Amino acid sequence: MTQDITLALADEQATLDEGAKFAGILDEGLTVYLHGDLGAGKTTLVRGLLRKLDYVGKVKSPTYTLVEPYQVILKSHPINFYHFDLYRFIDEEEWEAAGFRDYFNANSICMIEWPGKAGNLIPQPDIDVFIQVKDLGREIKYIANTTVGRKCLERFQLA
Ligand SMILES: Nc1ncnc2c1ncn2[C@@H]1O[C@H](COP(=O)(O)OP(=O)(O)OP(=O)(O)O)[C@@H](O)[C@H]1O
Ligand SMILES: [Mg+2]
Repeated sequence: MTQDITLALADEQATLDEGAKFAGILDEGLTVYLHGDLGAGKTTLVRGLLRKLDYVGKVKSPTYTLVEPYQVILKSHPINFYHFDLYRFIDEEEWEAAGFRDYFNANSICMIEWPGKAGNLIPQPDIDVFIQVKDLGREIKYIANTTVGRKCLERFQLA
């Protein structure tokens, strides 16, 4: 059973293409943590992913807004996709006040950059994604933590 996958990403286009592949294995209800240093390529991955899900607009880094919501088509159904960047997150009360808790539900997908900044406020991840600089490019590693997460990673093998 697939628990983790590691791949090399030679350049920015490879990260965008990887995002597109990741889009193809997702299920609604997933929580995904995106780990990696500043400039690792977390937002680039999400950009490639959203393009594949037919989002045609600009994919901005939600560094100041904390979250950017998208409506996308997953397996022919519209779902909410939330891209969080919690790098500047400081106020736990803001989390509750903004209603972020409700963003995590069975009909949405949440992907979170800098999840550690929110402590225990966010649900545990179905999949952890680690991106790090390797040679001139990047290395990406996926780790599944739940049954749903493992099911998704197994589809990489079938793709
Ligand atoms: N595989 C790759 N090889 C080389 N450069 C890459 C690769 N993937 C992405 N990049 C470059 O690395 C940078 C990544 O920026 P990006 O905003 O995606 O990082 P991030 O992890 O979201 O950072 P932050 O934590 O600041 O939000 C971009 O300049 C992009 O062109
Ligand atoms: Mg980013």
